[in-house]
Amino acid sequence: MTRPQHILIVDFGSQTTQLIARRVREARVYCEISPPTLSAAQIRERKPLGIILSGGPASVYDAGAPALDPAILSLGIPVLGICYGAQWLAHALGGTVERASAREFGNAELTVGSKASLFDRFAVGEYTTVWMSHGDHITKLPEGFVSIGRSGNTPNAAIANEARRLFGVQFHPEVTHSARGRDILDGFVLDVCGASPSWTPDSFVHEAIARIQQQVPSPARAICGLSGGVDSAVAAMLCHRALGERLHCIFVDNGLLRSGEVEEVTEAFRGFGLNLTVVDAKSRFLDALKGVSDPEKKRKIIGHEFINVFDAEAKKVSGATSLVQGTLYPDVIESVSVNGPSAVIKSHHNVGGLPEKMNLALVEPLRELFKDEVRQAGLSLGMPRPLLYRQPFPGPGLAIRCLGDLNEERLETLRAADAIVRAEIAAHPIAESVWQSFAVLLPIRSVGVMGDFRTYEETCVIRAVTSTDGMTADWAELPYPLLAKMSTRIINEVKGINRVTYDISSKPPSTIEWE
Ligand code: XMP
Repeated sequence: MTRPQHILIVDFGSQTTQLIARRVREARVYCEISPPTLSAAQIRERKPLGIILSGGPASVYDAGAPALDPAILSLGIPVLGICYGAQWLAHALGGTVERASAREFGNAELTVGSKASLFDRFAVGEYTTVWMSHGDHITKLPEGFVSIGRSGNTPNAAIANEARRLFGVQFHPEVTHSARGRDILDGFVLDVCGASPSWTPDSFVHEAIARIQQQVPSPARAICGLSGGVDSAVAAMLCHRALGERLHCIFVDNGLLRSGEVEEVTEAFRGFGLNLTVVDAKSRFLDALKGVSDPEKKRKIIGHEFINVFDAEAKKVSGATSLVQGTLYPDVIESVSVNGPSAVIKSHHNVGGLPEKMNLALVEPLRELFKDEVRQAGLSLGMPRPLLYRQPFPGPGLAIRCLGDLNEERLETLRAADAIVRAEIAAHPIAESVWQSFAVLLPIRSVGVMGDFRTYEETCVIRAVTSTDGMTADWAELPYPLLAKMSTRIINEVKGINRVTYDISSKPPSTIEWE
């Protein structure tokens, strides 16, 4: 693969390696993350403009501590080591790294000590808050290096060999706690490496279209499963631009979608001119799920049915050679450990198992992108914001929000309650800060009164959380009047529910979904 001008990020196992990549991309420079198993020759071949070495939990003296081929430091390519990366750099060039008497963790004040190209955006003597998290520190600099920044406990908080363009920082410029971390990373990427800020959504779209056309040359056809989610939508739009009528999109209505969803997706994509088949497989899924209440069994059945329905539909497209998937960059790098690529690449949750079964070549136009970049690409393709900023919706759909027996009647009850939750939250300014919000239907009946009648009906749970990535989440502090309005509307308008509760559990220890 020919790469655009780029920065190579070597992952020494840090929690924040992806953040480094995000910051470089925010400077509009393309970058890739690789394990330290790359040789100097492989790196030379890739021609990166610069190399950033991430932090990591090891100590350079540990047996098996991750290390690069030291020859990379003689390639003439600028290098910036961060935390463990800086320690490895110093150690590899003959400096000394020792355990600090006290672990330094948290905010520290960095004072810029001398003029250096890395600190081109700072004046000498200027100070700024940086985030430290280290047990080891560099006590003796390698030959040719000087300290260019110090903090209270760390005289060598930033080091440089200006002639060789090798730099190290003991702190983490990539985290937001480092107030001017961006100026330091931009200093490396733009000032030291001379990268031009040309990685834009438009340039990505342009290049991706050309690449798809190469991967699926005329008259070959490609198939794409639309889920209603952002990733498959943007992947489909890119392929549509590249292939036109040669792209066939398939949307499986599994009967587990939210109110109005099939219509919304159909209308939006037909409006874009996509070649779209909607498969009504509602009864097939519901039949297979009859009497199943175990969450994992539900997931398995839904996945299995999806593959069969999709496969049967795809077989009707003659001349199809490729399958489009909305795999994102985090899915790709999650499987690349510090010891090199692992055997298992995470499969895309909605179409897992499809490629093996269908014997089609994979087209993954979003493989290099983070989620926010997918949205940017979507905007550049002219897709409407509401479609690009939709909340995540699980592949198994309402099946994992409808606890107990799954049948059309209960799903309809849940759909009606969920539509109210979605509409009321969307109409409130708090919607901006909510990550996911939805209704859950519990198979628990309780007694109520409505007018002169006694009711004995099921319970609806409102779930709304704030989160940045879905890995952890806090319950959202929705205003009481909003909760009151949703509760009143659900009880008055939805047959089958006479009690509404609000879920005030965070993740962990709870999860966002109920199943
Ligand atoms: P949990 O419930 O694990 O959810 O806190 C974290 C995020 O993942 C979504 N989710 C799923 N997505 N298939 C999916 O495609 C699933 O089986 C599934 N389970 C949970 C959930 O909506 C949340 O965004």
